[in-house]
Amino acid sequence: MMDDQGFLSLCPVADLAGGTIGSALLPNGVKLALYLVEDLPFATDDRCTHGNSSLADEGCLEGHIVECGMHLGTFDVRTGAAMGAPCTKAIRTYPVEIRDGKVMLSAAAMSAELGA
Ligand code: FES
Repeated sequence: MMDDQGFLSLCPVADLAGGTIGSALLPNGVKLALYLVEDLPFATDDRCTHGNSSLADEGCLEGHIVECGMHLGTFDVRTGAAMGAPCTKAIRTYPVEIRDGKVMLSAAAMSAELGA
């Protein structure tokens, strides 16, 4: 649900403790993978750019690098850059921050896409 400042609540920060990769569904149907590294949140598309694999369901987070569970390709969650083969195409990242103990998406920055 979007608050009056244009932020969309994605999940409680506590859900991402210990390197757990979270997920959230945007109003436009896109599924995001959510990460917490050194107390900072990051969000990317959930679907690996190499194939049909969910990073939230099958991936593994090590520092700022998420490894896809399907073929072990990697991305930097800060930039979305593909870091390891077989991934070559960057994954999309999203503007998120922590507010009131929740990971929030700056929906105002994406209002056209989200229809907000
Ligand atoms: S589907 Fe992710 S590395 Fe192949």
